[in-house]
Amino acid sequence: MAETAKLVIDGKTFEFPVIVGTEGEKAIDIRKLRDETGYITLDDGYGNTGSCQSKITFIDGDKGILRHRGYSIEDLAEHSTFIETAWLVIHGELPTPEQSKKFSVMLTEQAMLHTDTLHHFEGFGEHAPPMAILSAMLNVMACQHPELLKIENEDQLLLGSAKIISKVRTIAAFAYRRSQGLPFNYPHPDYRYCHNFLHMMFSMPFKPYEVHPDVERALNLFLILHADHEQNCSTSTVRIVGSARTNLFTSVSAGVCALWGSLHGGANVEVVQMLEDIHRTGKSPKEFIERAKDKNSGHKLFGFGHRVYKNFDPRAKILKNSVDKVLKVVGVNDRLLEIALQMEEIALKDPYFIERKLYPNIDFYSGILLRALGLPLDMFTVMFSIGRMPGWIANWKELVETASRINRPRQIYTGANLRPYVARDKR
Ligand code: ACO
Repeated sequence: MAETAKLVIDGKTFEFPVIVGTEGEKAIDIRKLRDETGYITLDDGYGNTGSCQSKITFIDGDKGILRHRGYSIEDLAEHSTFIETAWLVIHGELPTPEQSKKFSVMLTEQAMLHTDTLHHFEGFGEHAPPMAILSAMLNVMACQHPELLKIENEDQLLLGSAKIISKVRTIAAFAYRRSQGLPFNYPHPDYRYCHNFLHMMFSMPFKPYEVHPDVERALNLFLILHADHEQNCSTSTVRIVGSARTNLFTSVSAGVCALWGSLHGGANVEVVQMLEDIHRTGKSPKEFIERAKDKNSGHKLFGFGHRVYKNFDPRAKILKNSVDKVLKVVGVNDRLLEIALQMEEIALKDPYFIERKLYPNIDFYSGILLRALGLPLDMFTVMFSIGRMPGWIANWKELVETASRINRPRQIYTGANLRPYVARDKR
């Protein structure tokens, strides 16, 4: 007999179905709770709320497991490319050789930006944050592709996703070039995804950027590790926006906005700023850790802790191992890596972090890798966005395909009770 959960309110027993996921995760299905009992649940921060059933990504936060469509992140990191992983995350299976070829041709064809959009980069101004530019330009794509505002079949979805995954890299590179007062580099048809991005970022009219294969591989790895992470803040945002039947471009643009925050994707910037601060001021890492433990300080140890992982973030482990290799290839001896390693060692022995199960998350090491690749600080979260596009697209696709209801949480109102209007001269 199917498992159920019983809830007793005022002596009356209500029974709710239990839903079991393919990895044994259990949920009490409370969709009829309010209709049957008059009660709602209160779950500030949604720590205990399943907002959907999804086939895309599995995380076991206690064991430090992350899988996309059944494939472990370790396997994907070792054997796959970002584009192949993107296909897997969006479509559910690793691509066949024909599908890979087709997608690769589409990405090449879609890499350009319409010339009309180039003035936008001037309008944003030299000091505009690239995350704001990225989000705005994704909405500009909605203006330019009215034919894709309603996606009704697989071909349209494939075209929309190819446009986003390909152009997001061009937008990011153009935003950077504009901020540096450098001419735009147009995408090169013969370069692969990561090579092309590095070319658009760093080639000079007088000197094409030469990409070391290990650097290209490291960028692939960075993007694979960010490809999806189930119902985090930005992905839930994409789902919430998409649930109103908002178009794909605008929904992922909302994801960029959510990711920007320092408690989410913006943490990769905060980590490097913190490490630079320690390096510059000569303060001890311990001092920063003590400050993070003090609730009144308003500071956290950025790059530590996670809502779901109560163990090592498997992505952080993989990145930590590759950072050292990349630093050697590019010939950089980054003191920040040493400081990060020291901080990790101190924090992992500190009862505050042990008791709360706070471990390094992906952002703890990603900034050091991006610095080694030559990326400036304000592009770090943009890089995260490029990596996360497949996950946002996959979640949007899954949402619209399952015809879910508009997302609309409830609340417990705690404000003033009904009172008469006070005339202006009586206030
Ligand atoms: N530094 C100091 N204390 C922390 C940290 C931290 N980085 N993270 C959590 N804590 C403390 C909390 O204050 C809380 O303490 P309390 O029990 O005494 O009140 C306790 O640990 C438990 O916190 P959680 O409930 O697990 O934290 P929550 O799930 O609300 O937040 C978050 C998760 C936002 C990631 C948090 O750990 C944090 O702010 N970390 C720093 C920012 C960061 O690195 N963000 C990137 C996350 S990964 C990503 O988005 C890609």
